[in-house]
Amino acid sequence: MTKITIANRGNDFYKVKGNKPLLLELRSQGLDLPYGCQYGGCITCAAKLIEGEVDQRAQVALNNRQINDGYVILCVAHAKTDCTFEVGVESHDKLYRNPFIDPLAPHELKADIAIRKDANK
Ligand code: FES
Repeated sequence: MTKITIANRGNDFYKVKGNKPLLLELRSQGLDLPYGCQYGGCITCAAKLIEGEVDQRAQVALNNRQINDGYVILCVAHAKTDCTFEVGVESHDKLYRNPFIDPLAPHELKADIAIRKDANK
C-alpha cells in the first residue's frame, strides 16, 4: 500500500494498492478527477507530482519538458512510493506553453517526444 496525498485538496490522502492506475484507484475512493481517453494519450488527467516516484511508462501524451516539470498521466501511472500530487486544471499551470508569451528557442522547435526508457530492451 502506498499513501497518495492531494496537496491542493486540503492534503486529503488515499491508500492505494498499486495494481490499478492511479486514476482508477483515486476515483474509486471518491476523488473527482478530470479524464478523457484513459489510455495515456489525451493529457486530460495530467497531475503534478510534488513528491514521490511513479511508473508511467505507458503514457504517450507528455513531452520531456512536461515530464521534467513533474507531470504525471494518472490514467496509466502507478505509484512506486508514497506520493504527493496537485490535481485538476489548477495543476496545469506549466502543462501548456503559450508561444506568444514564451516563444520557443530555435533548439526547441524540434519535436521533444518522450521516449520510453525501456524502448531499446
Ligand atoms: S485520460 Fe487521457 S491521458 Fe489520461
